[in-house]
Amino acid sequence: MTQDELKALVGQAALQYVVPGEIVGVGTGSTVNFFLDALATVRDTIKGAVSSSEASTARLKAIGIPVFDCNEVGELAVYIDGADEIDSRGYMVKGGGAALTREKIVAAQSRLFVCIADASKLVETLGAFPLPVEVIPMAAQRVARQFAALGGQARLRLKDGQPLVTDNGQQILDVTGLAITDPLAFESEVNQWPGVVTVGVFAHQKAGVCLLGTDSGVRTLEFR
Ligand code: 5RP
Repeated sequence: MTQDELKALVGQAALQYVVPGEIVGVGTGSTVNFFLDALATVRDTIKGAVSSSEASTARLKAIGIPVFDCNEVGELAVYIDGADEIDSRGYMVKGGGAALTREKIVAAQSRLFVCIADASKLVETLGAFPLPVEVIPMAAQRVARQFAALGGQARLRLKDGQPLVTDNGQQILDVTGLAITDPLAFESEVNQWPGVVTVGVFAHQKAGVCLLGTDSGVRTLEFR
């Protein structure tokens, strides 16, 4: 199966976690886009969605699903999102689509994080995928030096030759050369560096379930 076929498979499988009559938390990215294609077929059974990005909001609106602000709703039953990497404990690296801050906010507001991913995303140790970190622009170089002290190389993410600007008006550093063996401690440490908005390690907001797309079908990993 192609990677897109695997993504479509888990996007469809995620429907089993959508609670009828409720508001679902929706992530961002190409795997989530397949989930949204599936969600469109049951859109009349849910009240709406909370979105983690302008891109997903536009897709939700296009398929006729009402989009609520986080502040208008209470705790969500479920948040469905992809990942750039996930390990055997449910810890993830996210932010390849630059939506990590809002993703972490919606994940924190949800009882269950359902990660949908093709099998290539399952790793032993987080860090091979360049770690996205959303930063306030004036802090970018200093934060990059802090990563250098840990052995990482941080690069400012560009779009069309210019620094990419996130939905929150900030910038993204992509950091290579890290082996994140203690994701909980790493996330806590980097999050308190001045100027860091969000680090793309999702350990405190880890997955409860991962639907992994494999050539032999959907493999369900439970981390609860
Ligand atoms: C966006 C994300 C995505 O979930 C992550 O990048 C995976 O994307 P894709 O499903 O396109 O592989 O964190 O910020």
